[in-house]
Amino acid sequence: MQKYMSRKLKAVFILTCIFLTFNSLAQDKSTLRSAVPVHTGVYDPAIDMKVESLLRNMTLEEKVGQLVQYSAGQPTGPGTGRTDYNDMIARGQIGALFNISTAKETNAFQRIAVEKSRLHIPILFGLDVIHGFRTEFPIPLGLASTWDPLLVEKASRVAAQEASATGIRWTFSPMVDIARDARWGRMAEGAGEDPFLGSAMAAAYIRGYQGQHLDAPDSIAACAKHYVGYGAAEGGRDYNTTEISEHTLRQFYLPPFQAAVNAGAASIMSAFNSINGVPASANPFTLTQVLRNEWGFRGIVDSDWTSLGELIPHGIANDGITAARKAFMAGVDMDMVSSLYHDHLAALVGSGQVPQARLDESVRRVLRVKFALGLFDHPYADETREAAAMLKPESIELARTAAERSFVLLKNSSGPNNAPILPLSSNIHSLALIGPLADDADNMLGSWSGLGKNDDVISFHAALVKHVGEDHLLHVKGTDIANGSDEDLTAAVNAASKADVTILALGEDAGQMTGEAASRSNPGLPGRQQELLEKVVATGKPVVLILFSGRPLTMPWAFEHVPAVLAAWFPGIQAGPALVRTLYGESNPTGRLVVSWPRSVGQEPLYYNALSTGRPADKHDLSKPPAGGDDKYVSRYLDVQNSPQFPFGFGLSYTTFRYGATQVSQKQLKAATLNATLNHDGRHPALTATAEVMNTGQRAGEEMVQLYVRLQGTSVAQPVRSLQGFQRVTLGPGETKKVTFDLGPEAFALWNDQNGFATESSKVSIWIASDSTQGTKAEVEILP
Ligand code: NOJ
Repeated sequence: MQKYMSRKLKAVFILTCIFLTFNSLAQDKSTLRSAVPVHTGVYDPAIDMKVESLLRNMTLEEKVGQLVQYSAGQPTGPGTGRTDYNDMIARGQIGALFNISTAKETNAFQRIAVEKSRLHIPILFGLDVIHGFRTEFPIPLGLASTWDPLLVEKASRVAAQEASATGIRWTFSPMVDIARDARWGRMAEGAGEDPFLGSAMAAAYIRGYQGQHLDAPDSIAACAKHYVGYGAAEGGRDYNTTEISEHTLRQFYLPPFQAAVNAGAASIMSAFNSINGVPASANPFTLTQVLRNEWGFRGIVDSDWTSLGELIPHGIANDGITAARKAFMAGVDMDMVSSLYHDHLAALVGSGQVPQARLDESVRRVLRVKFALGLFDHPYADETREAAAMLKPESIELARTAAERSFVLLKNSSGPNNAPILPLSSNIHSLALIGPLADDADNMLGSWSGLGKNDDVISFHAALVKHVGEDHLLHVKGTDIANGSDEDLTAAVNAASKADVTILALGEDAGQMTGEAASRSNPGLPGRQQELLEKVVATGKPVVLILFSGRPLTMPWAFEHVPAVLAAWFPGIQAGPALVRTLYGESNPTGRLVVSWPRSVGQEPLYYNALSTGRPADKHDLSKPPAGGDDKYVSRYLDVQNSPQFPFGFGLSYTTFRYGATQVSQKQLKAATLNATLNHDGRHPALTATAEVMNTGQRAGEEMVQLYVRLQGTSVAQPVRSLQGFQRVTLGPGETKKVTFDLGPEAFALWNDQNGFATESSKVSIWIASDSTQGTKAEVEILP
């Protein structure tokens, strides 16, 4: 490559790169809430030099080729019918391929690119590696429920090691969309409703996938998706329109993407939805103004599957060439599947509608990532490494830990002997295990399960048999997930009547009812499962309900009548062992909800960090119909409480915790001082908040201590609470620990009426609490 560049040019180029790098980071600092300078490969001036050398030798057609991506395997969207990839690769017309997943397949395509194409530019192979590749971990909603970013980082590291062994060096993950509506099937794929937790998880995934160095053979490039606002789909219906004010976008939907960019994400995927009328895949404000100009993002913007072609049904283009132009000029570098860049981009450059410089800039971004991954030096997967990389014992062990930590214990009231029903006593003589998900492998893998195989899964039933022995277990299905017969229901009731304790394994079909294109207008228990549940409870025997789902399910009857309920999401290959260890107390639940659990679908969208209204209902008893007068004219429903069934942050343990009062290091802060240090780095704690947490139970346990803030008197109304910190503490029985949070100025900042992040003079409430509704508050004043 060196030969393409004279020494003088090289010097000018290096200086330009250094200037651009620092300039973009400087820009970051003025606008970001917590800018952390990143130096991954895509910000490396040495790589930029290689890119420039190559770029100068490329034809227009070869440049366009780098921006073209096709699916070469099992489609993950509407079909395209295109198959002539070998010839296209040889002509340099394809930059990336996805949906193939063995070293043999990737190497076969790569050989054509490297050996037959004129410039030997390697192909970038991608796949939806979402919560594991072969070792399947809990679905992302479950992983987020661990509130354990380090664990998420380790799980994504395993996924990267396995995927890279097959030549896949790019994953379309993490999904960092904020999800406030349980009807939306893709809630399963993200980290829930909170931007603070969502940002921590976003960064953790990126660190795990990309590792210390992107060019390590076991690192893969991440792709934060779906940029942006996809989770705000109206009515929770997938792909639907969104209306999001700039304030809401900046304060809630954008932060996890910004965290991903700050963590060095190599790519971003533009979403299907429109935002305030402008589709996200042709949106200059989000794609260029925010992502490039403000955040200084230098990686690839990839479209979602045919989202460029979809600009036509969206109604902002009447033909393919217009759709290609609008998307490209808005800031989409690579076209996933639509073929519109392949068909029209060269002509658009030829006619001057797309400037040559813009084309070059997009090609640079793609080549930069390929160089950063080391693909030019090591284009092939090592076929001998492939099998050994999968399902290593330590990866399986991590999958079990992740599953255990993802479980959220929602209810655990008294069973026999007036003691909580869980953990189960080992003296129970006979157990009935009932439900369509009890002996299920496929659903345990969750949606987007990569190369996960049913044979890799230890089902709940298999693990329970191993633990209690066949003789002590009555196992009947009771019903299928979506259909059921009277005979099966009767058999289940008979089994429950004979057993000392019944465990019900109920929930959704992971593939059909959760994930993409799986929105549900009534996200309750499907089919005849509610009927089964009621009949089994009517036997009067103690019942433990294990819920498998990709979202919180509206089932108020169950929460009233079933003594113990565990939300298990879809736990991955170690579902069975993790559940058995949890039910028998070898593992004490530590998972916490990352979404507000609705009582009724009519409450959706439901999220804890909502704004107050002018007529808040918090002082009223909403469990009764309004008594009239003051009780009526408040923001409430007549037929359901405003509060969720279980709030964000909620989760029980087999022990109990008590919190002391929240204390703060000072009662007054100054907005001017806070603003002076805002966005500089994490080294400016403005205030320290502490609380004592005591384990008041009989067992050791871990508590996820959460810190919430509310700002009042600001220029733009702020949420009734916002998570600004969380910490895990381990406490022995009777033990007390003081938990300390150092809060930086960002904890008190908002996107204000001047269109910028800043702190303002305001009244601040701070809670250190076990969930988003608990705790005693400390008050602080921010003076001008
Ligand atoms: C469409 C989905 O929206 C996206 O998340 C996924 O990465 C692509 N298909 C590729 O499979």
